Amino acid sequence: MGKIITIKNNKGGVGKTFLTTQLASGLALAENKVLILTSDSQNNVFDYLLSGFLEFKNGLKAEVSRKEGEYFRLSKNLYFLPLEDNKFSNQFLKNLPVFLDECREEYDYTIIDSTAILKLDAVFLEKTDSIIIPTYADEVTLKSVINLLKEVDIKKVKAIVTNRYRASQNQKKYYEALKADLKDSPIFISKPINHVSFLENMLDSKKSIWQFSNKTAEQIQEILLDVIEQI
Ligand SMILES: Nc1ncnc2c1ncn2[C@@H]1O[C@H](COP(=O)(O)OP(=O)(O)OP(=O)(O)O)[C@@H](O)[C@H]1O
Ligand SMILES: [Mg+2]
Repeated sequence: MGKIITIKNNKGGVGKTFLTTQLASGLALAENKVLILTSDSQNNVFDYLLSGFLEFKNGLKAEVSRKEGEYFRLSKNLYFLPLEDNKFSNQFLKNLPVFLDECREEYDYTIIDSTAILKLDAVFLEKTDSIIIPTYADEVTLKSVINLLKEVDIKKVKAIVTNRYRASQNQKKYYEALKADLKDSPIFISKPINHVSFLENMLDSKKSIWQFSNKTAEQIQEILLDVIEQI
């Protein structure tokens, strides 16, 4: 049976889509069959991993209701089913858990790039096996992480990944505080992923981090491998 993993933080811009796409690409490279789903109808997964003009009409909603979703193949073993919009019928929400069970049979990993769309996310979180939380090392974002840990089933939270890290005094302080706060919990606190300008070029190229062999990319790959071990 495949696993469902949700990348979640209620705050915007912390690296949810970055982490989703790079973890998914890594798992696919290791010969797993991987599907990316999202509760964010901006479908930014496309911006990271697929070049060319993209248009789709039928996504997750059409798939769940009528088996008519368009799956996009992003690379070998890696697929994406985009989300049409944020209007969800009760019928869709009722059928979604059944669809997620089918995903478990079809894919080794289903990875959800989540955003705070309440009813949809509630179903995703209910069905998920693991939650990975990207964050910034600052006060406001870490408060939101603490709130999130109270909202979700904490047993499912496998890792917290500090992203866009600049090793300033201040960020170090918050990163160390996060580690200290959770030192007795089984939640893995990864090494921080630095803020790297290299990612802009990576996005333009639509390649994943695994396709680069420079030192910066390798540092990030190592951290992602540590996270993959937890899921
Ligand atoms: N480690 C990093 N270094 C530099 N830039 C980064 C890093 N991680 C992410 N970014 C950039 O920050 C922006 C936000 O990242 P991303 O889209 O993954 O966040 P998000 O949490 O999915 O945002 P949203 O809430 O809008 O969906 C993107 O332009 C991304 O390329
Ligand atoms: Mg996003």
